[in-house]
Amino acid sequence: MKGSVFISLVALLALASSLASAYDPSPLQDFCVGVNDTKLGVFVNGKFCKDPNLVEAEDFFFHIMEGNTSNPLGSKVTQVSVNEFPGLNTLGISLARVDYAPYGLNPPHTHPRATEVLTVLDGTLMVGFVASDQNDNRFFTKVLNKGDVFIFPFSMIHFQLNVGPENAVALASFSSQNPGVITIANAVFGSKPPIPSDVLSKAFQVGKDIIAYLQKQQWYDNN
Ligand code: GLV
Ligand code: MN
Repeated sequence: MKGSVFISLVALLALASSLASAYDPSPLQDFCVGVNDTKLGVFVNGKFCKDPNLVEAEDFFFHIMEGNTSNPLGSKVTQVSVNEFPGLNTLGISLARVDYAPYGLNPPHTHPRATEVLTVLDGTLMVGFVASDQNDNRFFTKVLNKGDVFIFPFSMIHFQLNVGPENAVALASFSSQNPGVITIANAVFGSKPPIPSDVLSKAFQVGKDIIAYLQKQQWYDNN
């Protein structure tokens, strides 16, 4: 009797755990078009696992170099995702170092697969994010100093501006091993091929000459 109760319990637990994992996983890349021939494909997140017997301490170690901020934005994001640091594979986290020249800007962007927590290591940053349409595109902003931490919730548009006359440095932590980045200006005005000006002119309620001007700019990518 006791044995059959135990077996029923194990069966129930097995059922519960199979139900718990019966959902679509979050994507680990922009897209993953299905193919039937394995020779035409890659692994779901593009990575194999190293044989555990060959893993060593070096696989879990990374040194982030200071970024070069001599560019039109005056900022440099040094990404440390699974692509740069394979030890992060399957762990669901990653990071980036952001360097800012005086008055440098990390321009409005989103991470399609992550929430970001930003910690200021040095300097003074004005940061902000804009909530979605459902929240009336509310703008949340704050000036941060050394040691301050700010959250940019999952996929919200956000930025950081160095408002001080000194260099600034921040550490961004992400809830994905491959957070991705969409820089708004680059995506909208620098897409390849360009989005038709009929679309952008109506969307932004400005003349096509202004759209043509914006589409001619060199949209710098600081990532
Ligand atoms: C900062 O917002 C970053 O994405 O590095
Ligand atoms: Mn970011």
